[in-house]
Amino acid sequence: MHYVLEPAADTIWDSAGTIATLEGVEDLAPTTEEGWFRVQHAAAVISESGNLLLMPGRTMDGDDWQEISHGLVSTGASIMTAAEQQDADAIFDLGGQLYNVCVACHQRYWVENDQ
Ligand code: HEC
Repeated sequence: MHYVLEPAADTIWDSAGTIATLEGVEDLAPTTEEGWFRVQHAAAVISESGNLLLMPGRTMDGDDWQEISHGLVSTGASIMTAAEQQDADAIFDLGGQLYNVCVACHQRYWVENDQ
């Protein structure tokens, strides 16, 4: 979570939308091929992390865990496609979807979560 999923998710969340600063509104979308490649890479990590969470020994009880992990696989794959197409709007929307996948699993399985 901390070393694999979170840095990849942060890369995606920091690569779409806008932020308002004193100097004006800054667009977060990548502007270089290298920048887009970073998003593709992060999306691949997200997608494959879904598969890692499905490995024997990682899977917690049955169906919800499986379903949410598959959600990570498919959301990551969609973000990869959007990054290949350099579609910043799609990445923004899918970033929201990604956040919902993280939260769905944490609400269900992260029992010591008191924040
Ligand atoms: C299939 C379930 C599942 C999904 C999906 C999931 N997590 Fe987690 N996550 C957990 C569980 C369970 C914990 C509880 C702590 C642990 O056992 O490592 C956790 C803990 C964490 C932690 C704290 C771990 C630490 O080392 O302190 C972070 C950060 C985190 N998740 C980030 C994310 C992000 C970002 C996403 C989405 C991109 C995500 N997680 C998706 C199950 C999941």
